[in-house]
Amino acid sequence: MCWTWAFSRDTGSRSAITHPRRRACRPLFSERVGREETPVVPPDAVAGWDERHTAEAYACFTHLFPMYTNTSRDLVERAELRGSRLVVDLCGGTGVTAGAALAVLPSRARVISLDASAAMQEVGRRSLHDTRLSWVTARAEDVARHVGEGADAVVCNSAIWKTDTMATFTAVRSVLRPGGRFVFNIGGGFAGVTHPDEEAARTGPSLSALIQDVAVRDYGYVPPRKTRARPKLPLEVVRAQLRAAGFRVLEAGVVAHHGTMAEKRAWLSIPIFAQPEGDLTYEQRMEILRKAYALVAPGQVTVTSWLVVVAQAAG
Ligand SMILES: C[S@@+](CC[C@H](N)C(=O)[O-])C[C@H]1O[C@@H](n2cnc3c(N)ncnc32)[C@H](O)[C@@H]1O
Repeated sequence: MCWTWAFSRDTGSRSAITHPRRRACRPLFSERVGREETPVVPPDAVAGWDERHTAEAYACFTHLFPMYTNTSRDLVERAELRGSRLVVDLCGGTGVTAGAALAVLPSRARVISLDASAAMQEVGRRSLHDTRLSWVTARAEDVARHVGEGADAVVCNSAIWKTDTMATFTAVRSVLRPGGRFVFNIGGGFAGVTHPDEEAARTGPSLSALIQDVAVRDYGYVPPRKTRARPKLPLEVVRAQLRAAGFRVLEAGVVAHHGTMAEKRAWLSIPIFAQPEGDLTYEQRMEILRKAYALVAPGQVTVTSWLVVVAQAAG
């Protein structure tokens, strides 16, 4: 089975597949990626990004489904980039956010897309061609070693909680000009926030819950004991760390991304996000996903919450 099946069949919303860059995904639909090549990924999404299959599947997902493009555009808008000369796309991955920034920046501007994963950037370089863009392979915490002072803005989409935030905030402050904006978002689960639309959309079990049920039923999977874990990066921690690093918070709020079960399935087929955690192969996870997905309506609306923070470098 090709691991990209989730992208190629029954997306539920054909109208979602309108991006011209989807052509870049075609090779992924072949059987070129063989079973023996399929990676076994760590259960979290912090480690494991520097891996070709994850990078290609991630890029394919972003070409076919709008979530990362929409969240990137939201950050770019809040960063108020018009007139900027230097913008840093932190944890830029395959360049989705850089692309959104380049779309609104003047011809003389520059964008540096910095990410720790060479594999993600390698895939990004293939589809994003713009002379204003340069790629730096480095950790976010080390951004000051690679970018001089005077950046007008730093944006970071869907990644900040994967970094050592205190170290990253301090490094970002040192590359921003006074008054420059630092705009990022945090997945709702990691920030401990839920948008009202997400609450309202919860009319039945989530795809993740169904995956767990199928894994228990068919694979003898033993789920980890539920604990009331504290969110990894709540707003009060973000505020305190930003203040300590020399920022002032201009804005913080919760936004919702509306998608479909089909989008969720495609996202869960990206190797690094495949569920459930534990001692299962990728093929087993995809089999479980297929069975779980059969229990939902592809077009059913799903909502993802994000905490969005706009900070400004103190003068
Ligand atoms: C969900 S992807 C987001 C990529 C991109 N911002 C986008 O919107 O498509 C998370 C990215 O964070 C990167 N990442 C995670 N921890 C990092 C760190 N400490 N420094 C730099 N990049 C990191 C990963 O390599 C991966 O490309």
